[in-house]
Amino acid sequence: MYSVAQRSVVASAPSKVNLFLGVGPLREDGFHELSTIYCALSLRDTVTISPAESLSISVKGESHHKVPTDETNLAWKAAVKIAEITGISPDIHIAIDKGIPVAGGMAGGSADAAATLVACNRFFDARISSDTLYELAAELGSDVPFSLRGGTATGSGRGEALLPIINRSTMFWVLGFAKEGLSTPKVFAELDRLRGTTKVLLPRCPSDLLQSLAAGNIEGIAHNITNELQVAALSLQPELRRTLHAGKDSEILAGIVSGSGPTCAFLCEDQESAREVATELSSSGTCRAVRVAHGPVGGTRLEHNQGRSYKA
Ligand code: C5P
Repeated sequence: MYSVAQRSVVASAPSKVNLFLGVGPLREDGFHELSTIYCALSLRDTVTISPAESLSISVKGESHHKVPTDETNLAWKAAVKIAEITGISPDIHIAIDKGIPVAGGMAGGSADAAATLVACNRFFDARISSDTLYELAAELGSDVPFSLRGGTATGSGRGEALLPIINRSTMFWVLGFAKEGLSTPKVFAELDRLRGTTKVLLPRCPSDLLQSLAAGNIEGIAHNITNELQVAALSLQPELRRTLHAGKDSEILAGIVSGSGPTCAFLCEDQESAREVATELSSSGTCRAVRVAHGPVGGTRLEHNQGRSYKA
């Protein structure tokens, strides 16, 4: 018999940048075989689960008006998964506070799903094992398992099969949020279009990058950062080149489109230079908003549990 928290339960989940994103062939299930290195960044979304008459979602924070509040929201789907596995009716309100750009290629929707899984597990005192939570996460989306885990990890399969890796660096990033979002499926489809009939092999995570991460060698990391989806994001939003150039005019170590974009991510030497780059990028007028973040950071966590008094 499960018990329901009387008050709210709060969880937060990190954003991510792909330090390497190699895109292999299109699979029969519509996904591409990936080889990637994820790094969790300090921009986080926070999810608060509270008792309610029925399942509902509200969103505040960064570009909140662009986030659906119905059953298409990944957080809604996560709550339904927990309800199915426990048999409990999901009579909850999910309040999402966005710190991660919407449709920005930084796994914002995945973060909301991961935070909802963890918060609902506590809210309903469901005691779902972490292995099962990972399975549910993988069913929800390719990036959701990494949103749960955080840190630095390689991802294979469609991105959901994770292996933690050693990363001795602390990286400071400047993130330029684009004026318009990009749809992940459209970016993958654009890459397929650009590749045409060229035979695609599955790329491997570069060993130089893995070694640089293990050694905490920031120049080596910067030198080897690669995103094969970038060409497709730039094809769909050519104006991103201006953002990349604006960042590259500053003192950065590397500049890439994050994941499927359109957020541009600039790796900086240290926190101070990140602040300077952020100021310059803001004044270039190419971005909707500019943030500084660091990584790697931890995965999804309960923030504070006000729902300590559970029904028996
Ligand atoms: O798994 P997720 O829901 O985040 O994927 C969104 C879409 O991105 C997929 O429907 C697919 O079109 C594309 N995708 C892909 N290959 C992957 C991951 C995502 O083609 N490995």
